[in-house]
Amino acid sequence: MAHPASPTVARHGGPLAGAIRVPGDKSISHRALMLGALAIGRTEITGLLEGEDVLATAAALNALGASVTRGGDGRWSVDGIGVGGLAEPQDLLDLGNSGTAARLLLGVLATHPITAFVTGDASLRRRPMGRVVEPLSRFGARFVSREGGRLPLAVSGAADPIPIVYRLPVPSAQVKSAVLLAGLNAPGATIVIERQPTRDHTERMLRHFGAAVSTEPEEGGLRVTVEGFPEMTAAPIIVPGDPSSAAFPLVAALIVPGSDVTVEGVGINPLRTGLLECLCEMGADIALLNRREEGGEPVADIRARAGTLAGAEIPAERAPRMIDEYPILAVAAACARGRTVMRGLAELRVKESDRLAAIAAGLAGCGVRVVVDGDDLIIEGDGGPPAAGALIETQLDHRIAMAFLVLGLAAKEPVRIDDAAPIATSFPGFIAMMNRLGAAIGEA
Ligand code: S3P
Repeated sequence: MAHPASPTVARHGGPLAGAIRVPGDKSISHRALMLGALAIGRTEITGLLEGEDVLATAAALNALGASVTRGGDGRWSVDGIGVGGLAEPQDLLDLGNSGTAARLLLGVLATHPITAFVTGDASLRRRPMGRVVEPLSRFGARFVSREGGRLPLAVSGAADPIPIVYRLPVPSAQVKSAVLLAGLNAPGATIVIERQPTRDHTERMLRHFGAAVSTEPEEGGLRVTVEGFPEMTAAPIIVPGDPSSAAFPLVAALIVPGSDVTVEGVGINPLRTGLLECLCEMGADIALLNRREEGGEPVADIRARAGTLAGAEIPAERAPRMIDEYPILAVAAACARGRTVMRGLAELRVKESDRLAAIAAGLAGCGVRVVVDGDDLIIEGDGGPPAAGALIETQLDHRIAMAFLVLGLAAKEPVRIDDAAPIATSFPGFIAMMNRLGAAIGEA
């Protein structure tokens, strides 16, 4: 999966216009493959994200004895082997750049009585896995990892798992999901308590496959319970467009004067729409059209038109509902008038890169006034695009790469990124799609 670096430049040009569809939701795509593998029968999936992260999950599931195959026109099928049915892989499971693949699969593996060796790329090998190793060990799984719970690690799943009650120490859908997935092959009820609600795609999809999952309010947060040993039956899945990918063309339309872009069929699960709330508070011209339900998830067409944006206060409580959108929100803030304060961003430090540092360094390079104050990010905009351009180090981070290319479409000087290759993890075809809308992004 390693690519030669692909230096790329984005330049200011004419308005962006048109209607597009972005690739399928990354979170839902991983879960469709994993839960399909744990169900009995053939699950047919439409609109699966064919990005490298999801392809890594597909390869891992094949190595574990499920059968994931690609059909024509974006259709995939998974022949599942049932909860508890995975077989020991013969080689390392390499999950590339994907934290979701690694953490959710470790959850599944923790209650299968097999041993697996898990690794990933340089970015994933830096990221904390202790946050899943700790709760999964309580089920009886054994782990040997590098210092700080880092990959590569070995997991030997519990032969007689004990279900657990786990209070999430950090708001993380990946940790919640890892524990719930481990609970599938443990007797009785496994419970996760989250103080701040995080994306609930795992819970929704488990129900879709026939597992018993309940969600009740608890201490201002939620208590999620899954019953062990469910009979999960194959069920068709339609993957909506990824709101985290749609964010890039939508913000581009807001900041490039004269633009008018519609992204069709985007997931608007309320636990993913924090960015849209922020942009509306900043005065953005955004409309949600044609709202509907597809495959158990709410979906809409989202239209964004250029206009002036104002700075805003973004509360820490909103972070779990827009955790992947801060790089592109920061780009919008850099083009807005006045101060934007984004609070409570500690989790950004452990994403594909240290995003708090990467955003601040990249914006400062473009001449934007930006300060990191503890876990808060403060950006002062002049009410227009930044005057300077810069060379951005993408650090194997797809969202840093896309966010700064979008900034380059508005900035007065070109913005270069050292490597566009990581974009293929979540948004294959991003550059071509943006250029079809009228952007000027090309080889540097
Ligand atoms: C994801 C959860 C989030 C998010 C990631 C996808 C998921 O991570 O950043 O891109 O699919 O559950 P955390 O759980 O680490 O917040």
